[in-house]
Amino acid sequence: MMKEAFTNYKTPSSQLVKVAEIAAPYRDRPEMLMKVVTQVQKIVPAFTDSVAAVIAREMNISQTQVYSFVTFYAMLSVKPRGKYIVRMCKSAPCHVLGAKEIVREMESLLGIKMGETTEDRRFTLEYCPCLGICDISPAIMINDKTYGNLTAESVRSVIKRYIREDVE
Ligand code: FES
Repeated sequence: MMKEAFTNYKTPSSQLVKVAEIAAPYRDRPEMLMKVVTQVQKIVPAFTDSVAAVIAREMNISQTQVYSFVTFYAMLSVKPRGKYIVRMCKSAPCHVLGAKEIVREMESLLGIKMGETTEDRRFTLEYCPCLGICDISPAIMINDKTYGNLTAESVRSVIKRYIREDVE
């Protein structure tokens, strides 16, 4: 049996290229940050330092400006979210390789549906665009860590670990 792969998440360069394409038309137009951030969030699973750096570079604004906007924007979302955001890649390669089964397993283990947060606010389950690690699909990301080559069995042990202990 193949052991599940595990890494700290880094935005793949193919996605950074797309981020740059979204941000580039708004050079020197900081008032367009809202539009850029909303579009970028549709194509990247997580807002990493490198994503913020590319937006800052292309729009010719500071990285701090990008961060304060993203923080403010997150505060506007009233939905409570968990300590651990568990994201399931919903793109085709992961889907073909059994994402459905992984989702079913996570939902039954945590007693919530995709898009929901557990009552103790420990977990939120959500879908995200391709994580850029299709070679190890099906894959999930929990905060900034990715887990690939998952099976129902291995995802169960990953989630159980997060139930048992605080993973930093
Ligand atoms: S399709 Fe799932 S990581 Fe790319």
